[in-house]
Amino acid sequence: MKRIAILTGGGDAPGLNAVIRAAVKTAIQQYGCEVIGIRDGYDGFIDEQGIMPLWLEDVRGLLSRGGTILGAANRGNPFARKVIRGGTEIVVDVSEEIIKGIERLHLDALLVLGGDGTLHIAHELSHKGVPVIGVPKTIDNDIGGTDITFGFDTALAIATEAIDRLHTTAEAHHRVMILELMGRDAGFIALHAGVAGGADVILIPEIPFKFEAIVAKVRQRVENGTLFSIMAVSEGAKPAGGEKVYARGGDEVYVPRLGGISQVVGEYIEKQGFETRVTVLGHLQRGGTPTAFDRWLATRYGAAAVRVAAQGRFDRMVALRSGSVIDIPLGEAIAVPKRVDVHGDAVLTARNTGISFGDE
Ligand code: F6P
Repeated sequence: MKRIAILTGGGDAPGLNAVIRAAVKTAIQQYGCEVIGIRDGYDGFIDEQGIMPLWLEDVRGLLSRGGTILGAANRGNPFARKVIRGGTEIVVDVSEEIIKGIERLHLDALLVLGGDGTLHIAHELSHKGVPVIGVPKTIDNDIGGTDITFGFDTALAIATEAIDRLHTTAEAHHRVMILELMGRDAGFIALHAGVAGGADVILIPEIPFKFEAIVAKVRQRVENGTLFSIMAVSEGAKPAGGEKVYARGGDEVYVPRLGGISQVVGEYIEKQGFETRVTVLGHLQRGGTPTAFDRWLATRYGAAAVRVAAQGRFDRMVALRSGSVIDIPLGEAIAVPKRVDVHGDAVLTARNTGISFGDE
C-alpha cells in the first residue's frame, strides 16, 4: 500500500478530524504510506485545488477539533450534480470525471468518512473499481450494521445539556418547553437525550403521535401539581395519519430539509391553555469539540480503516459491534437504515419511567 486518500462527505459531525488524524498516523507510521486529503467531499477529485497532502504535522492537535480540515459538501453527489450550462441550470452525472480524477491519483485505497448518502455513493464507486473503505459518520446514528456512528455521542451530550437548561426556566415560568432535535428519520438523539435529560414527552419518527395524548400528559402533570413539562421532539416526528414537516423541499440534488414540527406541536398545546415555548437546537448539535467517547471511537475507526485497506479488502465499512471494531460489507451497512426499535429496551425504559411518546 503506497498511497491512500481520505474524504469527508455530507454534513459534518464531531470526530471527523479525529478519524483523519488516526488514519494519517496509522498509514504513515505503521505502513509508510503516503496520504492525500480530498477537499469538499467527492468534489475534490474534479477541483483544481481539491487535493492536499496530509503529513503528520497536518494532523497535530486535531483530536479535539470539531468540523473537518478537509471540508464537506452536501451537494456532493457525483451522480446528480447541478451545474449551469448555457445560462440554464441542469443536473448532470459527473461520476466518470470523478473516477478519472481518482485514477489519476493511483490510489491504493480511498477512505470515505460519511453518512448514508456519502456511503451509498462510495458503494456505487466501488462497483466502478474504486478501492473504497467506509467509516460511519453521523450525529443521527442511522447507519445499519454498526452499534454507533461517531458524532452521535457529542450531539447527545449537547442535546441533554439543552434539556437540563430548559428544565430550570420551564420550572420557573410554569411553561411547556419543547426542544426540537435533529436526526432525520431516526429518533435516536431525541430518545436518548430525552431519557438522559428527564423529558416528560419524547416524540420520534418511529412512533407517530396524537396531539390529544401529548396534551393529556401535560394536563395530568399540572393536575398533579407539576406546572411545567419538557418535550424532546425529533425533527422527523409526525402525527398519526399526518405528514412530516419540512423547512425546505428536496429535489434530485438536495435531500429535503426537515424542520418545524415542534412549532406545530407548540401552537397546538398553547391553544389548549398551556403557555409554551419552542427551541430548535439545530446545528449546535454538530459543532464544536467531540466528546471523549467520540474521539475514542473516531480514533479506533480511523486506524481500523487503514488496517482493512492494508489487507486489500475493499467495499467494506468499519463498524462497532458489542464493543469491538470490525469491518462489514458496505452493501450490508447501507441496505437498511437503522431506526429506533420501538419494542426495544430504550423505548421500554422511557415508558417505564413515565415518559410519554404521545401515542397512548
Ligand atoms: O444528517 C445530519 C443532519 O444534521 C440531520 O440531523 C439534519 O436533518 C441535517 O443533517 C441537516 O442538514 P444541513 O446541514 O444540510 O442543514
